[in-house]
Amino acid sequence: MQQALYHPEHGYYSSGRCAIGRKGDYFTNVSVGPLFGQLLAAQFSEIWERLGKMNDFIIVEQGAHDGQFARDVLEFLQKRLPDFFDALRYRIVEPFPILQERQRRRLEAFRDKVNWPSSLQPFTGVHFSNELLDAMPVRLISDGVEKLVGLDGDKFAFVERPVDKTLFNQAALDFVDQIAANLQRGYLIAIDYGFLDEEFEKTVQVRARHRNLDSSFEQIGNADITMSVDWRSIVERSQSNRLRVAGFTDQHHFLTGIICRFANEDLGQSPLTDSPKTKRELQTLLHPEMLGRAFQVLALAKNVGPETNPLAGFKFAREPRLT
Ligand SMILES: C[S@@+](CC[C@H](N)C(=O)[O-])C[C@H]1O[C@@H](n2cnc3c(N)ncnc32)[C@H](O)[C@@H]1O
Repeated sequence: MQQALYHPEHGYYSSGRCAIGRKGDYFTNVSVGPLFGQLLAAQFSEIWERLGKMNDFIIVEQGAHDGQFARDVLEFLQKRLPDFFDALRYRIVEPFPILQERQRRRLEAFRDKVNWPSSLQPFTGVHFSNELLDAMPVRLISDGVEKLVGLDGDKFAFVERPVDKTLFNQAALDFVDQIAANLQRGYLIAIDYGFLDEEFEKTVQVRARHRNLDSSFEQIGNADITMSVDWRSIVERSQSNRLRVAGFTDQHHFLTGIICRFANEDLGQSPLTDSPKTKRELQTLLHPEMLGRAFQVLALAKNVGPETNPLAGFKFAREPRLT
């Protein structure tokens, strides 16, 4: 998975071959349209208020692909919430030069707002990712046996070997450690698809041109490979790093809570216009049989007191408390 996605020359992401959206390999929340970024921008503004409307509030994004989410957020805030826009800076952590180049082009209008540090740096604000965790390499371990990639003649084939207590998702846990080490004060919001506890099914998905492929050895470097997120292990690792769970719910309830904030607070005109395009976007993001239930949202907090009220996105959260 590491080589197929991130080999400097041949990897699906690092080569820049990754394509998201109708003409690409799969859809994401971001590729549905600007509404997703606009709603998240409203959630970020509430976090900014909770941190005392500070200057130099930083939004860090990882897994920013072509920069479209950042543009949707910044365009919305510039028009609708200029005070917050003036106070913030946007950081993209992007290891792959070809993707960084695309982001710079897409964000040309915001070149004074956005920067690209070479690694995660200390920050106060919010760390955001959409479908980053599912793209982190995993090891195929089950019942003390690990599947590794070997050769059968000149073809790749799985070989098995016994393995001791090794974690299958070490890369995702390392990512949690890095956030915990760099977040000074504020929140992490991660959106992804996965499972909690006994429902957890370890499934690797291989996708190209909106089709699931039967084998991860098909179209290597031209197909996306993902693994559903084991939320429980992410939560436990976060808690052992002194990050507090500030909310966990499905995307349907999360976005509905944010939409309510538009109705109750002075956030300017809601992005929910009557245009058929916006209605379609909203339906795709919210509908339980589309993206609404497939995706979950985890928020973690550091050095912010326990909330009397949850963040807007968790107003209707129904999942068991994870604290
Ligand atoms: C499934 S795509 C999601 C893209 C975008 N967030 C969206 O929702 O359309 C996953 C992205 O995570 C990126 N990625 C994986 N590991 C990363 C890391 N350690 N740091 C930054 N980006 C990473 C990949 O390069 C890829 O662009």
